[in-house]
Amino acid sequence: MKARGIVTIANVWGETEAAYAKGVKRLSDSAVDAIELNLSCPNVPGEMVGQRAESARRVVRAARKVCEKPLWVKLPPDAGLEVAQAVEEEGADAVCAVNTFRAMAIDIETGKPVFERVSAGLSGPAIRPIALRIVYELASVLKIPLIGIGGITTWQDAVAFIMAGATAVQVGTANFIDPTRAIDIVQGLGRFMEEQKITNWKEVRGCAH
Ligand SMILES: Cc1cc2nc3c(=O)[nH]c(=O)nc-3n(C[C@H](O)[C@H](O)[C@H](O)COP(=O)(O)O)c2cc1C
Repeated sequence: MKARGIVTIANVWGETEAAYAKGVKRLSDSAVDAIELNLSCPNVPGEMVGQRAESARRVVRAARKVCEKPLWVKLPPDAGLEVAQAVEEEGADAVCAVNTFRAMAIDIETGKPVFERVSAGLSGPAIRPIALRIVYELASVLKIPLIGIGGITTWQDAVAFIMAGATAVQVGTANFIDPTRAIDIVQGLGRFMEEQKITNWKEVRGCAH
């Protein structure tokens, strides 16, 4: 990817503070442009690091010490403002919100949960309005850039997240529906800028507040 001139951001998760730090150090020594610390993996048992300010703080502090690249911190949807502020205080360069929502399904033939661990992460358009509300709320308290994520499928969705206060957006599930969707979104954003005579996204960022 680097050989093709693509900005590359690596996402990293660890089972322990030390494992996070080890992964971050390796990535910091690599060619990636930024590191996204995933404090919100829904596929592991127990509580997520990003659900409590104290555990989030510890992991970000350990990562920050060994990270010479921009460090982004990705939060679970129910992290709350206190966690986001703790992460900011520990030196995160950006907050990414949100990861998937814990959800479940039941197979009515067997009467059992579909997923081995009972719950799994829900993503895509269904979560978009909730993710948008979370991004809006986080934008009111954070000073560092916020990267909006959650069900973004069209350029209009991306505009709404920017208007809620996001500096950038990420597109996840929509890529599985249509791998060229990100290109459509970028082109749509360009057309919107022209039509609305926007020269810099700063002009509309957070305008919904
Ligand atoms: C199949 C799949 C795998 C994912 N893997 C990761 C991951 O490794 N690390 C991470 O931080 N988020 C992961 N996510 C979460 C997404 O990056 C994103 O935060 C979430 O799906 C909401 O955005 P979306 O609705 O655009 O997909 C994954 C999501 C899906 C659907």
